[in-house]
Amino acid sequence: MEASMIRMTDPVTNSTAFLPGPVLLLGAPGVGKGTQAKRLMDEFGIPQISTGDLLREHRRNHTPLGMMADELMATGQLVPDDLVNQMVATRLTEPDTGRGYILDGFPRTLNQAEWLDGQLANSTLPVVAVSIVVPERILLERITGRLTCPVCGTIYNRYSEPPLAAGICDREGAELVQRADDTEPVFYERMKAFEAKTSDVIEYYRAQDSRFAEVDGNLPVDEVMQSIRATLFRLRHYTES
Ligand code: AP5
Repeated sequence: MEASMIRMTDPVTNSTAFLPGPVLLLGAPGVGKGTQAKRLMDEFGIPQISTGDLLREHRRNHTPLGMMADELMATGQLVPDDLVNQMVATRLTEPDTGRGYILDGFPRTLNQAEWLDGQLANSTLPVVAVSIVVPERILLERITGRLTCPVCGTIYNRYSEPPLAAGICDREGAELVQRADDTEPVFYERMKAFEAKTSDVIEYYRAQDSRFAEVDGNLPVDEVMQSIRATLFRLRHYTES
């Protein structure tokens, strides 16, 4: 793809700054998909679409989808493809996705990946997939130590990324919460689902070399971010001027 295609004029800001287009962040539970998606969102001004967050919102609102997903999420199983695909289809119709977006935690099955390819067959830019890799022995501590702000969604970790005051969000002053599925037994179930289903998705994109890259997620958060940023430039054939 020509670099000039990436230097398109942003329809919102009229600038010709880099736009990453549709980006997929893939990886096992706790590799840092949400943490990095939020940073990319701030950097490029495009939305994060986290299927986990959308499903948790459905659970909080007691929608039929939320009630259906409740038990599956609590036990670390995947929610059925057709329900998740429909939820993503609805989200992608919202106007803020026009300049690109970061899909965090989707696709997670081959069926979801093929469905997404069909949905985006006519889009200007193909999706690019970035797989974040962290050894499993590190992930358990990341998951059981995670705390999230219920107001602004900032993600902390009581071991590696602690808030300034224990249990309190630096930005909002709100009490941080722990996700119900962030326990050791459910982590292992989530890992099983990842290995059984999502590792095939990673191989699916890896086989399409021009739109896939792997980054080391076992580095400080800012270094991982810089690596993803450089990867997006490379995958989109963009040179900083
Ligand atoms: P989801 O919410 O997507 O959970 P997940 O994939 O298991 O991923 P996590 O959110 O746990 O981890 P993350 O990679 O975002 O890590 P984070 O940045 O928070 O899904 C939950 C459930 O919903 C699923 O089990 C399933 O039931 C359902 N679901 C969702 N999507 C679905 C789909 N497409 N199909 C079917 N079902 C679906 O970081 C983790 C911790 O590590 C944090 O504490 C953070 O501070 C810390 N950390 C991050 N980066 C670093 C770093 N570089 N160094 C040190 N610490 C770090």
